[in-house]
Amino acid sequence: MTKLWGGRFTKSAEEWVDAFGASIPFDKELVEEDIQGSLAHVKMLAACDILTTDEAATIKTGLETLLEKAKKDELEYSVQNEDIHLNLEKFLTDEIGSVGGKLHTGRSRNDQIATDMHLYLKKHTEEIMVAIKQMQQALLDQAEQHIETIIPGYTHLQRAQPISFAHHLLAYFWMLERDYGRLEDSLKRMNISPLGAGALAGTTFPIDRSYSAELLGFDGIYENSLDAVSDRDFILEFMSASSMIMMHLSRLSEEMILWSSQEFNFVELDDTFATGSSIMPQKKNPDMAELVRGKTGRVYGNFVSLLTLLKGLPLAYNKDMQEDKEGMFDTVTTVKGSIKIFTGMIDTMTVNTDVMAKETHSDFSNATELADYLASKGLPFREAHEVVGKLVLTCIERGIYLLDLPLDDYTQASSLFEEDIYNVLKPSTVVVRRNSAGGTGFEQVRKAIESGKNALQQK
Ligand code: ARG
Repeated sequence: MTKLWGGRFTKSAEEWVDAFGASIPFDKELVEEDIQGSLAHVKMLAACDILTTDEAATIKTGLETLLEKAKKDELEYSVQNEDIHLNLEKFLTDEIGSVGGKLHTGRSRNDQIATDMHLYLKKHTEEIMVAIKQMQQALLDQAEQHIETIIPGYTHLQRAQPISFAHHLLAYFWMLERDYGRLEDSLKRMNISPLGAGALAGTTFPIDRSYSAELLGFDGIYENSLDAVSDRDFILEFMSASSMIMMHLSRLSEEMILWSSQEFNFVELDDTFATGSSIMPQKKNPDMAELVRGKTGRVYGNFVSLLTLLKGLPLAYNKDMQEDKEGMFDTVTTVKGSIKIFTGMIDTMTVNTDVMAKETHSDFSNATELADYLASKGLPFREAHEVVGKLVLTCIERGIYLLDLPLDDYTQASSLFEEDIYNVLKPSTVVVRRNSAGGTGFEQVRKAIESGKNALQQK
């Protein structure tokens, strides 16, 4: 088959060589963006009198027919036509005749592919931002139900101090808030048009790049044609932000997995977000959370892979860059899917408040309170720490907790102790009293829920 660029060639490559060089198996994902870009380009060419109104109208009709066919999945792509651009150009000339060949006036596949990818990623970044908001809403909804539900807070995965379960969930709300901000910020640089940069140096035709940019909804155009066709920073920014999203989700995955284990039993995942075992009838596995934790690896991999691909590439376009697409598609699909799974999982999980209450009454996570108690009565904190450490040891030896220890033991350890320590030691008191800004005190958590709601409303 003759190539669209076959003029200077006397021999054709064998099919397996063509197949190796082709990107159509994956860049067909960009078919709608490619046609959208062409529609803007042809409109601009007519407005600049580079094509006649009739020619432009014929091309437009042809492109619209192709768009319909693409939506119905009726286009039969071939690797001989290498990529989405050449496949579409071939379909277009088959459809409307040789005038279809005028579409490529004043542009190159290099600015064309860059344009397609900007359009694609802009759309999907916006969709991911909406998905993030939905997950934030799910976290807020659960948090609102559990302001006064107390769980052990951990450091080193050892019980540290009791906290409000809502406070724990809201920590993820604020992580996602930053993730959203990073994507929003990346849109500023992504929403710039490379179209009209040509192969690398611009074009001799009197085109109007700002006009085609405007038609495509871009905020502006790349200032430099070499940069326009070589830049993949916008994908890297997306991948970096996506890696952080996945890192956050994988931390939450890990907690969900721990919390739904028999050992913790803090939450029960809904049947619709869990799976069974083919051999062990009793099992209910947190597969979805595990998968999100696992998929984090491929998102990091895609990011590192593109960074490595671009490292040391001379200007301007190099075929290496064709390798930029699959990782981008995969990251979009993975991040979108993972956020959606988590939204459903959080919405539907059952929180075992009775287990949490029991647990926070059978640990030493209230020990800091006793030390603070003594310190507030004038004992240097370091000495208070020592006194309480010894009391904890006494309890461990007797197999009891601080709330069970008789007052005599307290007063023997320090004459500063009085009856009111039993109230101070209650998990609810411990939490309520952490009323510093951003702390877990119920009052602070209520405020945080309000500011979370405001943050969501402003988006
Ligand atoms: N299929 C190519 C890619 O994805 C499109 C740009 C090709 N340009 C070229 N001069 N070979 O990178």
